[in-house]
Amino acid sequence: MPHSKRYVLLLTNFLCVYMVISCGSGPRYGTRPNQRNLRPLLRQQYVPHVSEGTIGASGPSEGRIYRNTPRYRKLERNYNTDIEFEDRERDGSDRTMTKRCKDKVNLLSMLVKNTWAGVSLKVIEAWDGDGVHRKGSLHYEGRAVDIKTSDNDLSKNGLLARLAVESGFDWVYYESKFYVHASVRADNSDAAKYGGCFDGVSEVRNESGSVIPMNKVNVGDRILAVDRTTGKPVFSEVIMFLDKQPEIGGSYIEIRSQLETIRLTANHMLFIATQTNCSNSFSATKRAVFAGDIFSGQYVYTTIQARDGFEIQPSRVESVTTVTGDGLYAPLTAHGTVVVDGIVASCYGVIGSETLAHAAMLPIRSFPYLRRTNSDVGIHWYAKSLAEIARIVLPHHRFKLH
Ligand SMILES: *[C@@H]1O[C@H](CO)[C@@H](O)[C@H](O)[C@H]1NC(C)=O
Ligand SMILES: *[C@@H]1O[C@H](CO)[C@@H](O)[C@H](O)[C@H]1NC(C)=O
Ligand SMILES: [Zn+2]
Repeated sequence: MPHSKRYVLLLTNFLCVYMVISCGSGPRYGTRPNQRNLRPLLRQQYVPHVSEGTIGASGPSEGRIYRNTPRYRKLERNYNTDIEFEDRERDGSDRTMTKRCKDKVNLLSMLVKNTWAGVSLKVIEAWDGDGVHRKGSLHYEGRAVDIKTSDNDLSKNGLLARLAVESGFDWVYYESKFYVHASVRADNSDAAKYGGCFDGVSEVRNESGSVIPMNKVNVGDRILAVDRTTGKPVFSEVIMFLDKQPEIGGSYIEIRSQLETIRLTANHMLFIATQTNCSNSFSATKRAVFAGDIFSGQYVYTTIQARDGFEIQPSRVESVTTVTGDGLYAPLTAHGTVVVDGIVASCYGVIGSETLAHAAMLPIRSFPYLRRTNSDVGIHWYAKSLAEIARIVLPHHRFKLH
């Protein structure tokens, strides 16, 4: 597809320009990306320095996986002969882990071999089928391992923990002098990698006033959105789905405001009001933030039915919780916004600049032929390219991986 190449190139230019602008604006952008930092972790230290279940680390537990269930059958076995598996249980559960966890363990095994001649990685615990961990432990999902080195030299554990960080584990904890605990995000966070989504039962509204669940929305439908310049509610055509995966479920952030409640993935963006005292605060003072970063006391925008159509009204957030749900849907409207369950959200995720994402989608909003895709489920190639480019050129704190 020559056109697609051209636009991706164009986009790269655009993002580079953006990055240059960002680079000039603060000292934090100047750090070298590949600086290796192989300082051993200290006992009880964890990296990143947030709790394991937060979005910036391995993310919340998605519920215990029991033996011989469909979720259990999706777990993989690790038969890497470079790794020692303690297998105290003698049932292979120390080899049982998610695909992401297995990838990281295998990479770490190579780093261990390169660091200490004749020493290999030893896995002393992976998936827990016996219930010996605390409730909510990621061991129950095959997303965590406890590790040490094959020579049982405890003085290596601090550096081993650092190597685990280098291997890309999403959270590493030098938990005890006997072992290091390392964990990863859930495998289904692929969608989270490319965008953010709503679940299948989230509802939108069309012009005749019907409320339509997300899994029944079609391209061409005109659904309630908000014009970002005028700040007025409008009906906007769904021009494509950036992502549509009915079969995949996972965890969503549920934001309960005084008036309405919305569910969306943590890396999808919605708007908060930075001032609630002016009459048109949406166009003037809205700010796009990740759903995962919202907290109680902030104000989201809701739409309320008025005599002549809809009006926007800020509504105070009462609670933010993690819930499970089914389906991943990311409709893109011509206006780049969408009102879901009565709350105004962006159509975008991943990139921490909502304005940038909207601008980057300009080619696809303008030229229908770019919207063509071989299949109408899955992540749209353009959204994927955008995420890949963002991964390369955008400063890290502007880009949320999964
Ligand atoms: C709104 O949705 C309903 C139910 O899906 C449908 O019957 C109606 O035609 C839609 N209205 C418009 C204007 O698209
Ligand atoms: C709203 O409040 C902010 C700070 O409290 C103030 O700076 C701003 O001028 C106010 N706006 C209006 C329209 O009253
Ligand atoms: Zn552990």
